[in-house]
Amino acid sequence: MKISPSILSADFAHLARDVQIVEKAGAQYLHIDIMDGHFVPNLTFGPNVVAALRKDSQLVFDVHLMIEHPENFVEDFAKAGANIIMVHQESTVHLHGVLQQIKKLGARAGVVINPGTPVVMIEPVLSLVDQVLVMTVNPGFGGQQFIPETVEKIVELKKLQKKLGLDFDIEVDGGINEKTAVTCQEAGANVFVAGSFIFNSENPTEKILTLKEALA
Ligand code: DX5
Ligand code: ZN
Repeated sequence: MKISPSILSADFAHLARDVQIVEKAGAQYLHIDIMDGHFVPNLTFGPNVVAALRKDSQLVFDVHLMIEHPENFVEDFAKAGANIIMVHQESTVHLHGVLQQIKKLGARAGVVINPGTPVVMIEPVLSLVDQVLVMTVNPGFGGQQFIPETVEKIVELKKLQKKLGLDFDIEVDGGINEKTAVTCQEAGANVFVAGSFIFNSENPTEKILTLKEALA
């Protein structure tokens, strides 16, 4: 089980400090949301910010690309120090190719599906990926409500995984708190992204511990 705090809800003026807080609290991953204002109606940061954070952190950088033409940017993110690079099925017509590209760059490859996208859309690439991210909200913003209908897709992925003899991680992202995390864990998820639950609180360390205890 891994906790992946999303810095989308962190204090952008004190990013390095917030990353240190979650690292000390025992998070294993750091979830970095990259948005381009096209694939989703919001903007965040690019590879330079990832490279800057890399200097001070040992966390596994879990980079979630919400951008069009991800094939044009995966190399920059790999060079910036991303450990896992995840692309949306809906964001490219070259899904298989971009996943191959990520592996070639020496990073772990992940594929992401929106709440409205069925698992069948990523079946042909499952043997290529190290991680599948099931979006439990529509991407673009932190602080949204968990969509319960997405849980069935985790169950489906878990079954497929068994059938095909694969062992990718299953991550969930959006509206995760100590209750929804457990629902997803019971369905088969093992990597948990949380943004507002951790950072929109007085005590982010305590929130990470709450999550860890609920999932232990
Ligand atoms: C949304 C992002 C999430 C976001 C989650 O597009 O992919 O990573 O930070 O935020 P919460 O945990 O607040 O739903
Ligand atoms: Zn995300």
